Amino acid sequence: MSNKMWGGRFATGPDAIMEEINASIGFDQRLFRQDIAGSIAHATMLAETGILTQEDRDAIVAGLTEVLAEIEGGTFTFSRALEDIHMNVESRLREKIGDAAGRLHTARSRNDQVATDFKLYVRDTIDTLVIQVQTLQLALVTKAEDEAETIMPGFTHLQSAQPVTFGHHLLAYVEMLGRDAGRLLDARKRLNESPLGSAALAGTPYPINRELTAEKLGFDRPTANSLDAVSDRDFILETLAAASICAMHLSRFAEEMVIWSSAQFGFVRLSDKFTTGSSIMPQKRNPDAAELVRAKIGRILGALTSLLVVMKGLPLAYSKDMQEDKEVAFDALDALSLSLAAMTGMVGDMVPNRDRMRVSAAAGFSTATDIADWLVRELNIPFRDAHHITGQIVALAEQKNTGLEGLTIEDFKFIDQRIDSRIHKVLTVEASVAARKSYGGTAPSNVLAQAARWKSALTGE
Ligand code: ARG
Repeated sequence: MSNKMWGGRFATGPDAIMEEINASIGFDQRLFRQDIAGSIAHATMLAETGILTQEDRDAIVAGLTEVLAEIEGGTFTFSRALEDIHMNVESRLREKIGDAAGRLHTARSRNDQVATDFKLYVRDTIDTLVIQVQTLQLALVTKAEDEAETIMPGFTHLQSAQPVTFGHHLLAYVEMLGRDAGRLLDARKRLNESPLGSAALAGTPYPINRELTAEKLGFDRPTANSLDAVSDRDFILETLAAASICAMHLSRFAEEMVIWSSAQFGFVRLSDKFTTGSSIMPQKRNPDAAELVRAKIGRILGALTSLLVVMKGLPLAYSKDMQEDKEVAFDALDALSLSLAAMTGMVGDMVPNRDRMRVSAAAGFSTATDIADWLVRELNIPFRDAHHITGQIVALAEQKNTGLEGLTIEDFKFIDQRIDSRIHKVLTVEASVAARKSYGGTAPSNVLAQAARWKSALTGE
């Protein structure tokens, strides 16, 4: 049997393999809410412009409302022969209300319909993701307040560099996530134009009112070019790009959690809720959630790459290739959402080992820069020379197998006569972080100020 939705000119139905490769209902059924909302807006507009009678419009809206309830209630039977969500819904509507259902598709096509549905879905998803990003930010800010004075090693090249505060480190991610939310909201802004009424590709001869459907669906305006409207997939590409950057940030943080929670570092303890044991090694607490968050960037960036490759070289307007946009996008956005939730849970439950961090922060001559700065400040030695002198001090400490704090005043004077005992007060990690009060620096006072700023920005208080 040929397809009852478009089979007029077909003598036979599709090959089974054709049906399998062609159908999208397996994944696009999750667009049912958006599809029905779009159809209700469309039917209402058709009635308001006199293209449809009010009775037909009412029957369509009532029928669609029932279909929505069936799908939500799990009693709806999806049919692969009907290809996609659009035709599944319309076909059920016809079973319910008869011929009036056939008038719903006046002045539209599945091409503008699917673009509209998907935009609505992505818009809703962005809104949810932004809230999730902000929830994670708030968890980090709260931790940062508690850990404003906790001193840990700061690294460059993963080599001991200068001491920093743990709160400062956590707030670095709050900044990144703030930009991630900004990028998602920016994509949302550009996305928010309604394709509905662009029809197949060229517009329609019916006297439709696209402003009206745009408004009913919460779009800022209708798209200005029908060819663009049915071919545009920038909105999902842009969202996936923003999602990839966010996932990359989460991956970096997850990697740090993996390192920090190792026995060798021992900076933090992740909670039982986000770790697993080993079936052979009884001592194990593996940071699986962090590892999986670290990995999710793979599929999210993969989705972006995959869709960019699908879209490149496609002539205008719609081609069926575009149906490949949804599966990867759904998977990627789901993965980001799950990663954000897992990260929020891990951050809230993470217990830092402050003593361990403090000891580690002092290792590796981490206050050497403070000595050089002291030589510049107190003895007016040019920084380059101060750097050289400090290098000799570090070499001496290394030779004596001690940290900088273990050097005596005689040791310092042996390197440079001008040094006096005041140098000792800059050697501690506490002095080092407290001194870094420059705007954006790691000092505990800065951390508290930045945490307060973020807290009021995030909670609106
Ligand atoms: N299932 C299709 C998609 O996801 C809907 C649009 C179909 N349009 C068409 N001309 N066959 O892209």
